[in-house]
Amino acid sequence: MKKVLVTGGLGFIGSHTAVELLGRGYEAVIADNLSNTRAAVLDGIEAIAGVRPSWVDVDLADPTACRAFLARHGDLAGIIHFAAHKAVGESVQKPLQYYLNNLGSLALLLEHVAAHPACGFIFSSSCTVYGQADELPIREDAPIKPAESPYGNTKQVGEEVLRDAARAHDFKAIALRYFNPIGAHPSARIGELPLGVPQNLVPFITQSAAGLRGPLKVFGNDYPTRDGTCVRDYIHVVDVALAHIYALERLLDGATAAPVEVFNLGTGTGSTVLEVIAAFERATGKRLAYDFAPRRPGDVIAAYADTAKASRELGWKAERSLEQSMGDAWRWQEALGADEGV
Ligand code: WQD
Repeated sequence: MKKVLVTGGLGFIGSHTAVELLGRGYEAVIADNLSNTRAAVLDGIEAIAGVRPSWVDVDLADPTACRAFLARHGDLAGIIHFAAHKAVGESVQKPLQYYLNNLGSLALLLEHVAAHPACGFIFSSSCTVYGQADELPIREDAPIKPAESPYGNTKQVGEEVLRDAARAHDFKAIALRYFNPIGAHPSARIGELPLGVPQNLVPFITQSAAGLRGPLKVFGNDYPTRDGTCVRDYIHVVDVALAHIYALERLLDGATAAPVEVFNLGTGTGSTVLEVIAAFERATGKRLAYDFAPRRPGDVIAAYADTAKASRELGWKAERSLEQSMGDAWRWQEALGADEGV
């Protein structure tokens, strides 16, 4: 049984990827220090997959702890590295915490891959590296724009660290640039668990609809878009998780064409904030209260993926609709009950 390390495997995308790995007969080892999730996610993964993966509470940015942990796992077929701080606003307040954690953990994991070059490595990157792209849809060879936040910079610099290490140590890696992952597993056993007030649109929508928050504030309705609200590429988290399986198997098959390959993970369709609200209402039959508010600093006007490369080379494309994502997000919120969002 091939063993794959899933760092941040109790997080949103990590937990959904662990479920898909287990469903395909991989052994998943989860490393997660619960800095932005809850241990109960492991129960959800087990309930879906029928297997309880091993979980180690380890700070991967701590050199001694990380190296000791990795020394016990010299037989990894792959590492899928999700673990990172990811709050854009927080990164502006605490940049050094973001650089130490996000880049420190990456470098320590790559040190292990340099010593075990057969271990495939997948890096969670983000469409945030494109900033406001000049052309839409956004292709992987679009220019990288100066990061709007230290968080975004950890993704840009992370990709550079990956490229330098892969070339110097002759191993292969894939960076996946997520657009906007949303939704939850259709079983409603795992989903997004924003701790505190959600900064992202969809968890705020579901918490507002559940009565845990006031009306949604739509940040800006005077953008040069079809209805004045920002456009994003919202992709179901299960589609994102499946892309990691395709990327892992491309690495394990030795099929990659460069030391580091980069793929966009999006649907290829842009949706406005108002269209997301409408999709939520269609999916749930509920009405969502919202007000227009001033634009949020740092927001790009529009971002959605060119999906041709992922389709052609990974053989992957998103299958789930925006409405299905919103329905699954709502069912997960209902399953959480009233104890969330406080
Ligand atoms: C989407 C749209 C908001 C909340 C961020 C990170 C990105 C990735 C995904 C980690 C925007 C609007 C939001 C609200 C609103 N994170 N909005 N009211 O900013 O596209 O991407 O999360 O990898 O790196 O940058 O996602 O969900 O925050 O916002 O109107 O209460 O919804 O203005 O137009 P974003 P988001």
